[in-house]
Amino acid sequence: MDEIALLPLVMRWLHILSATVVVGGGVFLWLVVPRALTRADLSTGDDRSAVQDALLRLWGPLFHTCILLFLVSGFYNYLLITRFEHTEQPIYHMLFGVKFLLALVVFALGVALTSRHDWSARVHANARFWMGLLAVVAIAVVLVSGTMRALPKAPAAPTAPVAVAVETSAASAE
Ligand code: HEM
Repeated sequence: MDEIALLPLVMRWLHILSATVVVGGGVFLWLVVPRALTRADLSTGDDRSAVQDALLRLWGPLFHTCILLFLVSGFYNYLLITRFEHTEQPIYHMLFGVKFLLALVVFALGVALTSRHDWSARVHANARFWMGLLAVVAIAVVLVSGTMRALPKAPAAPTAPVAVAVETSAASAE
């Protein structure tokens, strides 16, 4: 069996686990939590929004950790591995640019939703809409990532045995 390089594998785990937390958490907060709060026996709308705010704030440290892990593992993967596997394939690098911009939208929405500062009050006032947008854009990021992964990799450079074989056949032809 071929050897597995440990660091790329760990980075891949961190990237995929972060995606699980952000996409799963985003969809849960968008589709499940608001309905659960409506069904629960909470007396006023204020109670409901207090629970929603508490959930979002508790999600904050987890979300911020995921941003850091995405950036570290994503740039590690792109700058040290995948860009060399897709040389002369502009579509790959264009998709990386699109993905990165969409990821920034997800990060900005998550930071605003989990913030305790006054500037985020308008986002909190319409939290369900922004949670939905976060979830949809995060899903789009996963789809773009899957497309990047499905693109064919550049053929590997000729290896030493091939070069030797070419030299030998050239010599025998003389
Ligand atoms: C919302 C944030 C993000 C999500 C949900 C996300 C999700 C994913 C997923 C699901 C994969 C496929 C993993 C695999 O099969 O190994 C992936 C691959 C990748 N991601 Fe991300 N990612 C995010 C942010 C980022 C960022 C910020 C960067 C760059 C700084 C990045 C760079 C990459 C690269 C280079 C790949 C490899 C693509 C390939 O296989 O060719 N990602 N991402």
